[in-house]
Amino acid sequence: MSPKPIARVAPPAEPAVPEKTAVALEDLPGVGATTADKLREAGYTDLMELAVASPGDIAEAADIGLTVAQKIIGEARRKADVGGFELGTQVLERRKKLGRITLNAKALDELLGGGVETQAITEFAGEFGTGKTQMAHQIAVDVQLPVAQGGLLGETVYIDTESTFRPERIIDMSKAVGLDPQEALTKIHVARAFNSSHQMLLVQKAQELARQRPIRLLVVDSLTAHFRSEYAGRGELAPRQQLLNKHLHELLRFADTYNAAVVVTNQVMARPDILFGDPTRPIGGNIVAHASTYRLYLRKSKPPKRIARLIDSPNLPEGEAVYSLTSEGIRE
Ligand code: GTP
Ligand code: MG
Repeated sequence: MSPKPIARVAPPAEPAVPEKTAVALEDLPGVGATTADKLREAGYTDLMELAVASPGDIAEAADIGLTVAQKIIGEARRKADVGGFELGTQVLERRKKLGRITLNAKALDELLGGGVETQAITEFAGEFGTGKTQMAHQIAVDVQLPVAQGGLLGETVYIDTESTFRPERIIDMSKAVGLDPQEALTKIHVARAFNSSHQMLLVQKAQELARQRPIRLLVVDSLTAHFRSEYAGRGELAPRQQLLNKHLHELLRFADTYNAAVVVTNQVMARPDILFGDPTRPIGGNIVAHASTYRLYLRKSKPPKRIARLIDSPNLPEGEAVYSLTSEGIRE
């Protein structure tokens, strides 16, 4: 008798634009043509997006009362079949679809349990020049690689808040991993965010794009810079945190809906009140700390070396990895 073949773990599914429920918004109770148009204008174009929205947001977007909004959401949930309990086996099924993107450096990939994960937010926090923007460029290149080479054959939406996106870097990095540089550039959809509310709007635009293109990575570089400069006063901390919270939830929703990786960068701020250990902390406090599934804290070492430390991960041990910033990109 021949031995039983060893069961193999299926490779991650090829990227595909997720299926959408074929129900028009107008089919929901209380949604007329006007309301449907307003909802669509605000970015709620299908049942899933309504199903996971908050009543307050829907009421505001469509200019309707809270009760009506709640009814619409309830019906969308019923029709889209969300909001109930999921069996452990279903959660496992969903997690099997997780994709991973290499960071081009073995130690870094291992630190993250195999690369940057989809259905999650990965935050790169650190001082200026630690390589946050280089990291974002590198992932936007690597996501395009075939699955066997650590990519997802995917495209990127790159929200650039500090005008530091450099096509020249993409050309260098893509050549170095064997991709056609011109083609690589056509798979990165860059938008400059002029202020924090524009930045939030761009996440909705990204959803529109993700319905047409296989977007598997959404970059926000930097997540916090606009929020920090626009809400600088002491009394503005609460509204700033509220908006950041909303922004992060929309990012996580994007990650879940499109099985995409969300990568955000965050500067650190000196905290004179911290007397022991590292006196710097990432911006955004608990809100950002809790919303980020993985938080990598970058710091400088002997050039061109940098050190990444993984902190507060839900399922991975804390640890550090050394990497280099080279002209070809991130390297071991
Ligand atoms: P801030 O946005 O200012 O907070 O910094 P950051 O963390 O985004 O830093 P960034 O990713 O811009 O890293 C800048 C560093 O990357 C430089 O100091 C260089 O060490 C390295 N770097 C950037 N471009 C090149 C390049 O073309 N060749 C090489 N060898 N290194 C580069
Ligand atoms: Mg930067």
